[in-house]
Amino acid sequence: MPDLFETMSTMRAMRRLKPDPVPDELIHKILQAGQWAPSGGNNQTWRFLVVKDPKVKKQVQVYYKRAYDEVIGPRYATSAPPPGSDPERYKRQHAAVEYLTDHYHEAPVWLVGCLRDGENPGRSAGSSIYPAVQNMLLAARALGLGSTLTTRHINYGKEVDAIFGLPPDVHSYAILPIGWPMGNFGKLGRGPLREVVYGDRWGQPYQGL
Ligand SMILES: Cc1cc2nc3c(=O)[nH]c(=O)nc-3n(C[C@H](O)[C@H](O)[C@H](O)COP(=O)(O)O)c2cc1C
Repeated sequence: MPDLFETMSTMRAMRRLKPDPVPDELIHKILQAGQWAPSGGNNQTWRFLVVKDPKVKKQVQVYYKRAYDEVIGPRYATSAPPPGSDPERYKRQHAAVEYLTDHYHEAPVWLVGCLRDGENPGRSAGSSIYPAVQNMLLAARALGLGSTLTTRHINYGKEVDAIFGLPPDVHSYAILPIGWPMGNFGKLGRGPLREVVYGDRWGQPYQGL
């Protein structure tokens, strides 16, 4: 198993997944990693939904695709490559995003990160579920499974939460489509660290890099 830093530095968004089943014991390990995460006041108000039912996944994919057609696709078509990327690489990212949009429901397992956050959650609510989501992504990577943190369904959050049968005081914050990757894990593309780190005050260089 790769060490933690190797795992983190190669945990790319893996959007092309095989439909082959994933053993339940691996899903168990991923869920356990999720539950090891911190939560505000140790409240542990997370809930994890394991979705395998093709009908449920397909219903959600319709909204995921609608949000792509309405918002995400046009944005990709007109935006510049992010730091650490280039036009070619960004084009490949866009193609992979489009691929996942069309094949979202074919991932054999989805792990949905939910939170019992009340009927009107505030700005900090997600901070108690995203550490668990990241733990699950790292665990999947360590086990050789591919996934991507996806939140696009939140554009149709009400509709999707109803499909999942969530009560009114529970919301879904992330869907992780999980499966065996078609491609290889590889080095991440990010901009220079010194461009995003300051020392003591905003805009001042941090000398430790
Ligand atoms: C908050 C958040 C939401 C995201 N939502 C989606 C999504 O809905 N669909 C998707 O394909 N990727 C989604 N991503 C994945 C990002 O696009 C991905 O992390 C980014 O392109 C960097 O990819 P890399 O880690 O492979 O370099 C999301 C990532 C984050 C952090």
